[in-house]
Amino acid sequence: MAGKIPQHFIDEVLSRTDIVDVIDARVTLKKRGNNHVACCPFHNEKSPSFNVSQQKQFYHCFGCGQSGSAISFLMNYENMHFVDAIEQLAENLGLEVPREGGDQPRPFNESKPLYELLDSVSQFFQQQLKEHPPAIEYLKNRGLSGETAQRFGIGYAPDGWDALNKEYPDKEAMLLKTGMLKTSDKEGASQQRAYQRFRDRIMFPIRDRRGRVIAFGGRVMGQGEPKYLNSPETPLFHKGSELYGLHEARKAAQDAGSVIVVEGYMDVVALAQYGINNSVATLGTAANQQHSDILFKIVPNIVFCFDGDAAGRKAAWRALEATLPTLQDGRDAHFLFLPDGEDPDTIVTNSGAAGFQDRLATRMPIIDYLYDHLSKDIDMSSIGGKAQLAEKAKPLVSKIQPGVYKQLAYRRLEALIGITLNDTQQTAYAPRPAKSALRKQGEEGLTQMSRAVLIVLQHPRVVASLEGEENPINPEVRGADILNQLIADIQKEPTLSTAIILERQRTRPEYNYLNQLATRPLYPDGRELDDDSALAEFQHAIAQLRKLSNRKHTAQLDQSKRRGLLSRRRGSKS
Ligand code: UTP
Ligand code: MN
Repeated sequence: MAGKIPQHFIDEVLSRTDIVDVIDARVTLKKRGNNHVACCPFHNEKSPSFNVSQQKQFYHCFGCGQSGSAISFLMNYENMHFVDAIEQLAENLGLEVPREGGDQPRPFNESKPLYELLDSVSQFFQQQLKEHPPAIEYLKNRGLSGETAQRFGIGYAPDGWDALNKEYPDKEAMLLKTGMLKTSDKEGASQQRAYQRFRDRIMFPIRDRRGRVIAFGGRVMGQGEPKYLNSPETPLFHKGSELYGLHEARKAAQDAGSVIVVEGYMDVVALAQYGINNSVATLGTAANQQHSDILFKIVPNIVFCFDGDAAGRKAAWRALEATLPTLQDGRDAHFLFLPDGEDPDTIVTNSGAAGFQDRLATRMPIIDYLYDHLSKDIDMSSIGGKAQLAEKAKPLVSKIQPGVYKQLAYRRLEALIGITLNDTQQTAYAPRPAKSALRKQGEEGLTQMSRAVLIVLQHPRVVASLEGEENPINPEVRGADILNQLIADIQKEPTLSTAIILERQRTRPEYNYLNQLATRPLYPDGRELDDDSALAEFQHAIAQLRKLSNRKHTAQLDQSKRRGLLSRRRGSKS
C-alpha cells in the first residue's frame, strides 16, 4: 500500500496549477468578466452556465450544480481517482509526488511504462496488419474502410508463439503484467516459458477514457474458439469499469446528447463506419451502474441496445436495474430490442444508417420497459394482480433519484393499478437524503453558521484581514469545528484559494455541502457579495454565533447547577 499524499503537497500542486489551463485543455473556455465560461461538460446545455474562477481556482455550473477544484474537475471529467488526479497535475508541474511513511511504490509511475508499452504494442499490431493481406481482406469483407480501422487502431497479432517476445526482448515481465504474454508450466517450473496470448487474430485496442491503450480484444478471422479473446484483468484493465469506444465516441455523444450502448466491438466499429459515432460497447459483461454513471456524466440520454434473444433480454433487465439509481431529472434511458439473430452490425451493413435509425425509433422508455416486463406474467384484470405489480414495482421505482421523474414513474404505476398511492406508500421505500450537520433551516434559509462558512469560502482574504477572530466559536455550536478550522487556516495563510481551502476538507462528510456553500449566493435574490458587505455580513454572523454560544454556555451552567442541586438534595435525604 502506498502512503498517503501529504496535505502540504496537495496545497502546493493546487497553488501552482491554474485551473483555467487544466479545464481549457479539455473544454474550450471563453473569457467573460472575471470568469471563464463554457457549455457545461457535465450536463447537456445550449447556453453556457459553466463558470471557472481563476481567482478562486474553482469551477461551478449554475445549471447542474457541479463544482470543485482542478482535482475535482479531473476526477469528474476524466473519471480519475483522487490520487491519479493529483499525480496528473503534479506531472504537469514536473513534481514528484511524496508519500507519507516512506518510499512505498507509487501506482501511477508504476503504470506509466505499462501504458507506454501497450501503446507501442498497438502500433506494432497495426503495422503487422499492413503486412498481412488476409487480415486486411477480412476487415474489408466486413465492410470496414482503412480509415475506420485506423480510427479504432485495429491491428493484427501475428501467428506463432513469440512474435512479441522477439519484438520486445527485454520487456517480458511487463508483457506478462499487461496480459500480452502468458506462461505455461506444463513441464514443470524449470521449463516455464512466456508465450503470446493473442495469435493470428484481428486486434481491437481497448482504450480508457483518456485514449490510453489498456487492453485488447482479439477476434479469430475464420471459425474458431473462442471467437473473441480479451486481455485478462490487469493493473490497467478492469473490464467492468470500461466501455469500448468511449474515447472515440465522446465528442459525437456530447453533440448528439445521447449514447448507444451495444454488445460487441464490431457493432461499435460498424456503426462508426456508417457515420453513427456515438456508440460504445460493454466488454463481454452486462451493463452495470458504474457504466451508467460514467455515461450520464457525458450525456443526458442512454440507449441500451440488445439482441432480441433470451440472453439479450436478461442482460437488458440487469441494465435496467443498474440504471434506475442513476436516473434523475434531466436524464433518461431507453431500451432497444433487435430482432432475434440481428445485431447493430448486421442491421447497418444490410440496411445502412437509415435502417438503423428506423430501428432506433422503436426504442422503449425505461419506465415502459419496467412495467411491461413486470406485468408480463401477471393478470392485470384482477385485484391480486394489480397489488402484485405494485409490490414488485415500488422497490425498483424507489431507486430513482427524488424529483419529477420519480413522481411520474409512480403516477404511471397508479394509472396501471387504478388507485392513488398515498405518500407514505410511495416514500416508505425511498431513501431519505442525508442532512448535513450544518444545514438545519431547510433548503432556502441559511443558518448563521452556514452564512459564516459561505463567506469564509468565497471571500477568504476578507476574513484573513480581520483581527481578533482567533477566538473560536464555542465548539458546542453545530459546525463550529469546521468554521474554527477554516478561520485558523486562513489567518495562518492569507493567500489560500477557495480551491485549496475546500480541498483540505475533502474527507469530511460535510464536503459536498461545503462545495455548495462555496458556490451559492448569500442573498436569495442572487446579488453578488462585494468585499465590504462580505466583511459586514461575516461580522454579523459571528456576533450571532457568539450570542448563541453564550446562550448554550449559560444553558449548560444552568443544567449543571440543577444537577448539582439535585444531587445535594439527594445527598441530604439519605
Ligand atoms: P458477439 O458474438 O455478439 O460479438 O459478442 P459480435 O460483435 O457480434 O462479433 P462478430 O460480429 O461475430 O465479430 C459480443 C461481445 O461479447 C464478447 C466480446 O466483447 C464481443 O464483442 N465476447 C463474445 C467475448 O468476450 N468472447 C467471445 O467468445 C464472444
Ligand atoms: Mn456481430
